[in-house]
Amino acid sequence: MSKKELRLHSVVSPTQTVIVSAYDEDGKAQACTLAFYMVSSHIPPCVTIAINATQKRKTLKGILATKAFVLGFPSVDQVKETDYLGVESGYNADKLNKIGYTTTLAKTVHAPIINELLLSLECEVVHTVTVGSHTQITGEVKNILADESILNDKDKIILEKLNPIIYDEEQFRYLTVGEKVADAFKTGIELKKSLNGEQEHE
Ligand SMILES: Cc1cc2nc3c(=O)[nH]c(=O)nc-3n(C[C@H](O)[C@H](O)[C@H](O)COP(=O)(O)O)c2cc1C
Repeated sequence: MSKKELRLHSVVSPTQTVIVSAYDEDGKAQACTLAFYMVSSHIPPCVTIAINATQKRKTLKGILATKAFVLGFPSVDQVKETDYLGVESGYNADKLNKIGYTTTLAKTVHAPIINELLLSLECEVVHTVTVGSHTQITGEVKNILADESILNDKDKIILEKLNPIIYDEEQFRYLTVGEKVADAFKTGIELKKSLNGEQEHE
């Protein structure tokens, strides 16, 4: 192996592409595309997003004003609309209307659900902190709305049906989820056992 030091940047490849939506001060639904998104707590379920506070972001203003947002998960067939929501601002255009996307008030928080997205997390803002250029906003998930078409008979989300958009910031491109390579929490346990010299038991 031969390693090289790289120009400093936040390496975000790969990450899931999401669309965050919120109402602005006039009660109008705003939305933008985000790659800076992570799961930040299991109990209670929380997610954290990071929005550039040094740039004018209409959606950020709405989230901070209403203390609520919805995180929507676009599918691969919505990649054009998703990219558009990330290259145009609500300050310049009625973005959702232009692409024919409709919204409904979420059940648990004051934020708009984008009806065309197959999976939406209704989030109440519980924490904000600004680090460098971005304001990190943690939202507690108050409700999860999933289209039945992406669920199995145990109400688990089938990733292949959601078909999320993976973002590669190193090469500025979108990808799909690939093949399964192993079972999680099983492959490592098998290795752990063999390293400890234990017998495998079923
Ligand atoms: C793939 C992609 C990912 C993006 N990720 C982020 C992000 O994580 N944080 C952020 O502040 N902006 C991100 N953006 C840029 C915003 O979506 C963009 O500035 C948008 O126009 C803001 O819209 P608004 O002013 O209507 O809120 C991303 C854009 C794209 C295309």
